[in-house]
Amino acid sequence: MVVTTTSDPRTTSALVTGGGSGIGAAASRMLAGTGARVAVVDIDDRAARAVASEVDGLALCGDVASPGVLARALEEAEQTFGTLDVVLLNAGTASQQNGIDDLDVADYRRVLGVNVDHVVLGLTAAVPVLRRARGGRIVVTASLAGLVPMPGDPIYTLSKHAVVGYVRAVAPVLADEGIRVNAVCPGFADTPLLDPAREQLGDFPLLRPEDVADAIAEVLAQGRPGECWFVQPGRPGERYTFRGVPGPRGGAAAPAVGPGAAGHLDEGAHDR
Ligand SMILES: NC(=O)c1ccc[n+]([C@@H]2O[C@H](COP(=O)([O-])OP(=O)(O)OC[C@H]3O[C@@H](n4cnc5c(N)ncnc54)[C@H](O)[C@@H]3O)[C@@H](O)[C@H]2O)c1
Repeated sequence: MVVTTTSDPRTTSALVTGGGSGIGAAASRMLAGTGARVAVVDIDDRAARAVASEVDGLALCGDVASPGVLARALEEAEQTFGTLDVVLLNAGTASQQNGIDDLDVADYRRVLGVNVDHVVLGLTAAVPVLRRARGGRIVVTASLAGLVPMPGDPIYTLSKHAVVGYVRAVAPVLADEGIRVNAVCPGFADTPLLDPAREQLGDFPLLRPEDVADAIAEVLAQGRPGECWFVQPGRPGERYTFRGVPGPRGGAAAPAVGPGAAGHLDEGAHDR
């Protein structure tokens, strides 16, 4: 399903990180299905090439956690396509932690590199490219673990909460330039990422990667700046409503760049 509404800005060309597998591959197919040209970025060269050839797109191989890699990939995609108006920062990984007191520092840094550094570096590099396109959209694949705790993987939970906060903080500033930033927060999806946890999950219902791609299409069409949309099996993607935090007593307005400046504390404004 691809949602088209009057508010749906057409995607002419897109870059998808982690596009060689799972959700990124499904999103690449979804975007190509709308007529967009797609650059598929993945550390797995063969996987990137396979998906790129399927969608008649551009394969780019690299480690998106490394500084400079995404900037070069974005530049190459922009040069190849002429312009770039959608960037999906989707690559991600789970930790191999087996318990809270079993911290492998190298593994911890690897997870933060892919799940957090990649989003920060990628978004920073994408902004000038989208400015040249006179606006565009950035969607970060976070996770339900960015909205609720996942005790089975606290490091993953940490990383996904971090990017949800980052998306919400940068979105209002970038919206002024016509660049919309959103997060998509899927529940468990049937992709290779889930393989180590499959036995524990038993017959828990899983999303198909295509379900998440549909939600990404919906967010591209309907998302408002900074919104995080969750996706669960059997449900279409939906806006997540943050409960908010009561403001200070006395009714002072939030400072322009302070917490709540984006309106996320509105729900708490009653407590004066
Ligand atoms: N599968 C789930 O249950 C689930 C649930 C919620 C969120 N997510 C998120 O969805 C996103 C996509 O995951 P998926 O489930 O499709 O997993 P996946 O393993 O099928 O795909 C991830 C892709 O990212 C690539 N990748 C990993 N590290 C990279 C790096 N450093 N540089 C470039 N490419 C890299 C991998 O090679 C792979 O092709 C991730 O951010 C993940 O955290 C997944």
